[in-house]
Amino acid sequence: MTVEEKLGQLQQLTWTGDTGPGGGQTAETEAAARAGLLGSVLNIHGARHTNELQRIAVEESRLGIPLLFGLDVIHGFWTTFPIPLAQAASFDPEVSRRDAEVSAAETRTNGVRWTFSPMMDVTHEPRWGRIAEGSGEDPYLNAVFAVAKVEGYQGPADGTELGGDGRIAACAKHFVAYGGAEGGRDYNTVDVSEQRLRNHYLPPFKSAIDAGAATVMAAFNTVSGVPAHGNAHTMQTVLKDEWGFDGFVVSDYTGVQELIAHGFAEDGADAAALSFGAGLDMEMVSTHVVDHGKALLDAGRLTIERVDDAVTRILRLKYALGLFDDPYCDESAEITEPTAAARAAARDTAARCMVLLRNEGAALPLAATAASIAVVGPFADSADLHGTWGGPGARRYPSVSILDGVRAAAPDAVVSHAGADPDEAAAAAGGADVTVIVVGEEAELSGEAAVRSDIGLPRGQEELIAAVAATGKPYVVVLVNGRPLVLGDWFDAAPAVLEAWHPGIEAGHAVADILFGTVAPGGKLPVTFPRAVGQIPVYYNHESTGRPVDPAHPDEKYVSTYLDLADGPRLPFGHGLGYTTFSTSEPALGRDEISRAELARGEQVTVRVTVTNTGERAGDEVVQLYVHDVAASIAQPVRRLRGFERVTLEPGATVTVAFELGEEDLGFWTNDPAGTFLVERGRFDVYAGTSSTAPARTTLRVL
Ligand code: NOJ
Repeated sequence: MTVEEKLGQLQQLTWTGDTGPGGGQTAETEAAARAGLLGSVLNIHGARHTNELQRIAVEESRLGIPLLFGLDVIHGFWTTFPIPLAQAASFDPEVSRRDAEVSAAETRTNGVRWTFSPMMDVTHEPRWGRIAEGSGEDPYLNAVFAVAKVEGYQGPADGTELGGDGRIAACAKHFVAYGGAEGGRDYNTVDVSEQRLRNHYLPPFKSAIDAGAATVMAAFNTVSGVPAHGNAHTMQTVLKDEWGFDGFVVSDYTGVQELIAHGFAEDGADAAALSFGAGLDMEMVSTHVVDHGKALLDAGRLTIERVDDAVTRILRLKYALGLFDDPYCDESAEITEPTAAARAAARDTAARCMVLLRNEGAALPLAATAASIAVVGPFADSADLHGTWGGPGARRYPSVSILDGVRAAAPDAVVSHAGADPDEAAAAAGGADVTVIVVGEEAELSGEAAVRSDIGLPRGQEELIAAVAATGKPYVVVLVNGRPLVLGDWFDAAPAVLEAWHPGIEAGHAVADILFGTVAPGGKLPVTFPRAVGQIPVYYNHESTGRPVDPAHPDEKYVSTYLDLADGPRLPFGHGLGYTTFSTSEPALGRDEISRAELARGEQVTVRVTVTNTGERAGDEVVQLYVHDVAASIAQPVRRLRGFERVTLEPGATVTVAFELGEEDLGFWTNDPAGTFLVERGRFDVYAGTSSTAPARTTLRVL
């Protein structure tokens, strides 16, 4: 390969969806492919059009190296699954695996073999719109869901299935600490200690890499002053040297160019030298590596070894994906719409993601005998409940509205509808046995660059709820949103509140499944819901302070709290109700009947928790395991999630869930930039139960 051809492999240019070559807008990309000066194209899809462009690269360029096509398939290609934050709320990684498998099959048959997913940016910031795209505030939960997605897209960690039908390459993003943006403002500064970086932001990436994630995307933010796109500590030292990552790192959209605006690079040449020198392998959209690479090599500002390494990484993935064997896709096998099986998976998973936040007097499930039901609110009849980052399917296939879902589930009831007008909603409620109020956020209010300073229900929706409540008739509230919301006083008065998130293509049917109890709700919050914006950041896995609130002395002034807010969040991480009741035992340590409260180095201990369905309906519960290192050389979070399992139990049934705890669960990374993981001797509290506030506790001593 010539130097120019090598540099070309490091370049990714954009396209315009399902259009073919020959158009004016894509002329530059097409010309680069023809000249053999292009490695990858994003935002193209469709079997015929990808084949046409591929044919130019393979048949008209000197070396015929196939292009790698990439696309943001975040929660569905044709079949839109719930947003990723919702998927995390299922506390069931199979939900994400099914999304990834369906998405991979649809994507690959449309000529695309690489998705820019999963996102695993742990965040404490509900204002940040991209909270919708990840798995919330906990590193462990993010890691489990990242692994499920990587495996669903790619198959086994050794990459042996990457070339096969129904498989695409994953991209672990955004590397790293993007969720730490100050004030939740997108792209904003992140100043993070090494221990916070390693304990909080890096673990999901490590798990994704161990699961075989083929690529990583750099983040738009700085990491302690150094932009992630030019950060040798994160990209080279941690990712490639420590973890042995042998895939490639792609920039985010114009991320190399943005090193100039960051005040890190003086010009484009500088930006290319700094980013590629720091371990970046592919430049998305801006073209500095191609424009300046030769001069940088001549000037000794970039080494040919680094360029060769980056090229090798990219070509290795092209081989693994089978592009050198067959660069084209079979146009006759193209999936062009959601299949019935894919829709069934989307419906089933969406229901598993919903979280019953409140249910006074068993207001839910709705009686199948209700003669009249009003479905009201601005989202009652919305066919756009796909959420942020829908794929091509979100533009082509409307989601089932909640109104239609209720109609289908209650064919004998008179179902009326009113939109966003409070008077009309109240009138409809007045004439119905029960009212379903559907409120929330449009998809555009979450996702990239969709940051809100006020995360209450927008635009008069609280007034609409109040108007319905004032009728004195029964009602329930369904929330459709992409982030935690500040729930106003209406929440405490509402008989029932169901968090449905943005549920995807089968939204209305999945909501109706829960409303009528065909499916029991069993999801849990993957993020804390704050009482007020002024309380943010509020998250369950915070560090201890020297002056925590003592519930026994609520009037104590000199403690870490707000004068004008009750202590703690509105709703804690891990919270979620069901239609039945469960009891959970205290966690028991040790195998069999032998209790073990001590752990020697290198050992593991089993924690057993017994769950019983004490109610009258079958239902799901998520058993959650948390640990706390009581005294450590670096103050540890008051609780850290280290295990969970969603179980389904018939009335009266009991099951014992077993978790293994080892050093990995009990230790922590220090501030040593070279990476030191410590397991310190002493006492650990072990909590198990059904939310992050579970009181049931035992202790363990590490020897
Ligand atoms: C910008 C986003 O930050 C990233 O997540 C996405 O994959 C790229 N654009 C490509 O669309």
